[in-house]
Formats: sequence, C-alpha cells, structure tokens
Amino acid sequence: MPAISPSAPSASAQPVQRILTGITTSGTPHLGNYAGALRPAIEASLRADAESFYFLADYHALIKTNDPARVQRSTLEIAATWLAAGLDTDRVWFYRQSDIPEITELTWLLTCVAGKGLLNRAHAYKAAVDKNTADGEDPDAGVNMGLFMYPVLMAADILMFKAHSVPVGRDQIQHIEMARDIAARFNHLYGEHFVLPEAAIDESVATLPGLDGRKMSKSYDNTIPLFAPAAELKKLIFSIVTDSKLPGEPKETEGSALFQLYQAFATPEETETMRAAFAGGIAWGEAKQVLFERIDRAVAPMRARYEELIAQPALIEARLREGAEKARAIATPFLTELRHAVGLRRLDTAVEARAGVKAKAGALPLFKQYREADGRFYFKLVDGHGHLILQSVGFDSPKGAGQTIARLKQGEAMMSGAADVVLDGAVVGTLADGRDQAAYAAAIAELAAA
Ligand code: TRP
Repeated sequence: MPAISPSAPSASAQPVQRILTGITTSGTPHLGNYAGALRPAIEASLRADAESFYFLADYHALIKTNDPARVQRSTLEIAATWLAAGLDTDRVWFYRQSDIPEITELTWLLTCVAGKGLLNRAHAYKAAVDKNTADGEDPDAGVNMGLFMYPVLMAADILMFKAHSVPVGRDQIQHIEMARDIAARFNHLYGEHFVLPEAAIDESVATLPGLDGRKMSKSYDNTIPLFAPAAELKKLIFSIVTDSKLPGEPKETEGSALFQLYQAFATPEETETMRAAFAGGIAWGEAKQVLFERIDRAVAPMRARYEELIAQPALIEARLREGAEKARAIATPFLTELRHAVGLRRLDTAVEARAGVKAKAGALPLFKQYREADGRFYFKLVDGHGHLILQSVGFDSPKGAGQTIARLKQGEAMMSGAADVVLDGAVVGTLADGRDQAAYAAAIAELAAA
C-alpha cells in the first residue's frame, strides 16, 4: 500500500483509521445535513489518527434528477457549505466524485462480481418495485439502471480509498454491507486488494426532525435550509408544528421537534434551561424565538463565510481540482493494480500460461441438506475441509431448504448483526463460531466461480 498521508503524525504508533463519506449533490444543505453529517465529519477529521475522505457524490445525483442546473447548483452549494463549516482541505481529501474517472472504471470491475440477486434486495430498488406492484404497474416501471446500480457505484467510492469506517445514516447501512460483500467476492477471486468497510452510526449524533416532526429530509419537503437568510430562518422556525398546549401549561420535551432542534445546537446547560422552561409552561411562540436565536447564533458566522464563497465559484472550483489531484494520486495507481489483477494487462509483459485455472486447488465448499429428528429439514455450508461455515434454521419441507440454498448461491442473502444470514427479512442461518461475513462471502463466491 502506498504511503498516503502527508498530514498524519509520523511518529504516531496508532493505526490510521480511514473515514470516508459522500453527500449526493441533488439539493440544498439543510440543518439536518449539518448536524447529522457535516459537523461530526469535520470533528472526526481533526483526530490525529484519522484520514478523512469527504466528497461530493455528483454521479449519484444523476440517479435522482435530470436537471443539470440543479446538479451544478447543488454541487456549488454543498462544496461551499463544507468549506464554510470549517473543513480544512489541507488535512483531508476533499473532492468531487466525477473528477475521479477511476471511480466509474472501478464500478465496472465491481459490477462484474456483484450478484444481481444481491442488488435485487437493495431497499431503494425494492421499494420502487413494491410500489409498482401495488399500483398494478410493470415491476420495473420508471426504474433506471442507475437506481439499480446505485450500491455498486457507492461500493466503488468506498473501496477505491480503502475506507475502514463510513459514517452514514441508518438508511445507508445496507449499502455498506453490500460494499463489504462485493469487496469480499473480489478479494476472493483476485486476491486481497480491498479493505472491508464498516458503517459507522454515531448514536450521539442527532437525526434532526423537520418542520412536521418527521425526519428532516428533502423527500418530505420539511427542511430548514442551513443558510437561509435570518428572516426566512425565523419564518420557518415559527412554522414548526407543535401541540395545542397553551402558555402556562407544562410541555413535553419527549417527541418535541422544537426541543430536539434546540438540543442539537445548544450546550448541555442551555438544553437543561430549555427543559425547565418546557416544564414551567413556556409559550410556544417564546420557545420558537429562543430556538431561532440559538440557531442563528450558531449559523451566522458560517453563513457569512458561505455567502462570500458562493460569490467566488472559481475559488471553489480550484479547491476541488486540487482535491481531485490529491485523490487521484491514490486512485490512479490503485486502479492500475486492480486492472492487472483482473487481467486487463499489457501484452508485452509476461503472459501467464494457463488461462482459466485457479491458483488454488482443493475441494470446493459444499451445501449439505439433511433431516433432523425433529422432522424438519436443514442444510449446512461446509468448506473444502468439511468444516462448518453456516448452519441453517429448520424448514418445513426439503423444497424450502433447497430453494433457500439456491438463493444463497445467487448471493441474495444479507448479513445481519455479526452472524445472521437473512433473506426477505427472516434469518435463514447462522455463521459458525469463528466464521465471519468475509468467510461466508468467499465461500459463496468460490461456488459461483466454480
Ligand atoms: N448514498 C449516500 C447518501 O445518499 C451518498 C453517498 C454516495 C455515500 N457514495 C457514498 C455515502 C459513499 C458514503 C460513502 O446519503
């Protein structure tokens, strides 16, 4: 692995943790993006043992919108937001995804090892299919291949930079699991090239509620733009939905969007004062005024920097280009290594004699089906030495067990927790002690390649 960090302390014995995350450039940053993603990412980037890779996921934006002006505008806004919020681009790798053509090339290499069955299970794609089915439409109506391939592109983002830790919202956990699965298959087929990433879900980081109390999200149209002018910010805050309790009546902090928003921007002491005010029957109008002032105080200095930056797009463009160069210093040689690994090689270098023969010989993993004394039907997956990898749950019929095996062979299963293998939301088997997800994925890949 090349030495990569100009900023990591050279005398440190701590292992370096690579952190990577991206934001899709299809909207305007809101308070939820800031508190849930940008603020913790910038804090993490200051750790001495961290190398941070933060990028603008503009290839992903094309899946969500066909409006070129929106993609460009959003890219500018999100880039300016990272910078205004204090990201130190000398310390981190900050780049625009589409400036790294190696990412699309890697996407193809990964596509060729990603199980179609695995992608059929992706939540976003499945939700579209389920909705079409419920509406009596063709299952794939309105679904483009970008949506279907979304997890593979995301895997390329992550695997390209050998990220260990990927801070994401809960809705993205499945994508990280898929990236692990795809990486494990590739490694099994072509050698240990990729690091298997983990999703990092920070419980202490707030998922902010929006104006209507649901999660703040573009898709619910309930957002408060991070850099709305003060007057608009105030108007939006005053439109937050509350219950109908009158001034003087004690108010619940639990489940109050207003309180949660306050907490995300206030110190612990300020939060306690607000909690007491709720108990003491503060009027909603007054609470909203306090919330507005608190958020405005936190945001105002950043908003001033943001406005300055937005007025100088050439400066932001130049920063992104520098970032791309720094990122490609890693991506270009790594892709050369990967191209070689899969056989995309120069012909004037040594040509390996035997095509199609795997380096390792020996027995393949095997699914074994059997019936227990309880009358139910089981299977297990054992490795080439007969050692247990996976033990199934009991099935009512041999057909049920057999169909499950067929689907596992297609790579359809997802991992859940440390050791459960899941299909359609139900646990179908458990990994043996000492076997991890990578061992399971490798065995399935070995069977698929045989
Ligand atoms: N899919 C992520 C989102 O919508 C954005 C994203 C793209 C991403 N590539 C990534 C996040 C790689 C983490 C790592 O939130």
